[in-house]
Amino acid sequence: MTIPPAAHDARAESSLRELRRAETAALLSSDIAKAALALHGTPVLLLDPERVRSQYRRLAAALPFVRFHYAVKALAHVDVLSALAEEGCGFDVATGEELELLAGIGRERIIHTHPIKKASEVAEALEAGVRTFVIDNEVELDKFRSAPSDVRLLIRLAYRSPQAKSDLSTKFGVGPFEAARLVERALARGIRIGGFSFHVGSQLDDPARFAAATTETLALMDQLESALPVRFETLDIGGGFPVAYDTAVTPLEELAAVIRPLLEPRADRLTILAEPGRIMVAESMTLLTSVVGLAERGDGRWYYLDDGLYGAYSNVLTEDVHPLIFAEREIEGLEVDAATHRWATLAGPTCDSTDVIAREALLPDLAVGDLLVSPVMGAYTVVTATRFNGRSVTPIAVISGGGRTGELVAAQPVGALV
Ligand SMILES: Cc1ncc(COP(=O)(O)O)c(C=O)c1O
Repeated sequence: MTIPPAAHDARAESSLRELRRAETAALLSSDIAKAALALHGTPVLLLDPERVRSQYRRLAAALPFVRFHYAVKALAHVDVLSALAEEGCGFDVATGEELELLAGIGRERIIHTHPIKKASEVAEALEAGVRTFVIDNEVELDKFRSAPSDVRLLIRLAYRSPQAKSDLSTKFGVGPFEAARLVERALARGIRIGGFSFHVGSQLDDPARFAAATTETLALMDQLESALPVRFETLDIGGGFPVAYDTAVTPLEELAAVIRPLLEPRADRLTILAEPGRIMVAESMTLLTSVVGLAERGDGRWYYLDDGLYGAYSNVLTEDVHPLIFAEREIEGLEVDAATHRWATLAGPTCDSTDVIAREALLPDLAVGDLLVSPVMGAYTVVTATRFNGRSVTPIAVISGGGRTGELVAAQPVGALV
């Protein structure tokens, strides 16, 4: 099997930039985007739930035998959840609060994949009808001692992934020996282990790593089935699918082509699940922010924006991803005098010196009030934002689907809308 290398080269980067610029230009010229900007001012996030639908369809077409459960943590917005519910997608929750957002969604479409849960949360999720959970240790196994017999537990495996933006194996998951012991303990206690799950690490542009984790997990399942009186029925391949922020990544279809031959032959016997978050929503939101101040400092020009690391750009801080940042003049494709371009520092609005969004941004000269735009701001942005300095969380205006220009409604259950 040939495994495509990660597609990082200068040409790919400049065509990615041009693609993002053109998409952003089309968005900003729409009446609904202009209306949202007029209504909210900046900062504001424009959410297009149609992009979420099309990403779901892409995933379903690339891996048709996989049941997708959207990882609600990436963007818990009611219009995202509604769009995915209508598409037939399942949901992956990590907390009772996320579960509450899914009121009205059939419980068989929901899995709970946080390996560590309060006993009260397990009880509430069971009471609500959730039947698939993830564990990675004995203390957690014991929380399911008196669970109904149709509950299936998945054991989370850890695969190291230092190249991922977030290597989740440093916090959760077990190796094969520990996994085998957990299966034995579960058998001894009469608790059903339905199979295994893993997460290769978030924003991982490495198809070979996805393939290796899949192969190793399938081999472990085969080995345990031949050594113990068990038969597994589920494999959950997690999330991690990469998104092109400022650099091109392996397209989803190419990544899928690498893992599909490993998984498809097993799909007649195994239920294969995935829990993508980022790839489903990243491209669905665009941030509009503006310059509130500027200063010449020892290291050059500084622009201070009305959104920053403690707000929607929290992805820069928590994940080390680097969204593109366009000046409005660049987006409109207006002739920008190269001589007026300069390297500048872009800082957020809070009084903390950590709040710097980009240190070497090449931008045309900007003035107070000028608009800046970042595409691909849907995943892990507002959900990890803070209220530091008393600032409000950046509002979200919905620009397709229902056509509402509402504000953040993440706390609203989705039930009434589906
Ligand atoms: C258990 C679990 N599932 C799914 C996801 C979603 O991963 P991604 O957004 O990388 O697709 C995460 C992200 O942290 C996770 O922890």
